[in-house]
Amino acid sequence: MLDKIQNILKEIETIEVKTKDQLENYRLRYTSRKGLLNELFEDFKTVANDQKRAVGQELNKLKTLAEQRLKDFTEAIENSESDAAGSATDLTLPQAPNFTGTVHPLTLVRQRVLEIFGRMGFSHEEGPEIETDWYNFTALNFAEHHPARDMQDTFFVEKKEVQKDDVLLRTHTSNVQIRLMERKKPPIRSIMIGRVYRNEAISARAHCQFHQIEGLYVDKNVSFKDLKDTLLHFAKEMYGKDVTVRLRPSYFPFTEPSAEIDVSCFICGGKGCNMCKGSGWVEIAGSGMVDPNVLASCGIDPEEYTGFAFGMGVERIANLKYRVKDLRMFFENDVRFLRQFEGA
Ligand code: PHE
Repeated sequence: MLDKIQNILKEIETIEVKTKDQLENYRLRYTSRKGLLNELFEDFKTVANDQKRAVGQELNKLKTLAEQRLKDFTEAIENSESDAAGSATDLTLPQAPNFTGTVHPLTLVRQRVLEIFGRMGFSHEEGPEIETDWYNFTALNFAEHHPARDMQDTFFVEKKEVQKDDVLLRTHTSNVQIRLMERKKPPIRSIMIGRVYRNEAISARAHCQFHQIEGLYVDKNVSFKDLKDTLLHFAKEMYGKDVTVRLRPSYFPFTEPSAEIDVSCFICGGKGCNMCKGSGWVEIAGSGMVDPNVLASCGIDPEEYTGFAFGMGVERIANLKYRVKDLRMFFENDVRFLRQFEGA
């Protein structure tokens, strides 16, 4: 019996098990219920008492080795299988989608507005956000004590001895009008887009920073009708071809006459709904004929030239288009919000 044990020991020590089939054969031959080990343990019962000790030791040695090797072979085969799975990646499968970011809703509006006015021959201008009082107020015909200059609306950067030299964060994009007219002689036809600042408490409906779009057209014989037709065309392109516009008298220091532009509600078609608060109209812009004083302060002869200007809020347009309930979302850059504009 000892010989038999020794032979099997040798067998197990030298055997090579590489595949699942070989592993199963190993198990069947040695460690399974009907395998050689159990057979030996059966035979052990018949071993003479004086030999039991020696045979028993060898038998246990064999058993430990057989089980250890079974464990090693199983592990080795499992590992090589997972390696094989790794190298067998199917390279013809389509790539997992890779998120590349989206265009911000305010940028979408900006691009659309520039496109619409671009086709009408308007160029695109930009100007500084840190500005002097002259460009933000004085040259725009704001009277010295006009309430809009008040600390409550304007973020001042530096107070100077002369009011027109005060440095501030621009409160509207109209400063670019002045810079443009100083630099360029008519005809001028430009769109100006940019960030503006006002000292307001931040809430769902107001923010201390927002964006404006301003338009300026100065040439010989520019009339109020040109203003209306230009904005009507814009409204149809932006909000749908069925909309109409109406002008309401208003006041801005830099335009005379001035008008607020409303567009017929493109949600309810003018019947009255939540968006237009039942009125059938939504306000989209302030506008007017450039005040002769403004032309004169930029060195343009108001006897020879006339012009119109208008200003709109970019967030306002985005809100009308995408119904964003809380203005702050435009500035928080939460990707869960931004991803909703994928493909918009
Ligand atoms: N700048 C004005 C504002 O911020 C808007 C405007 C621009 C009105 C041009 C008329 C003409 O309220």
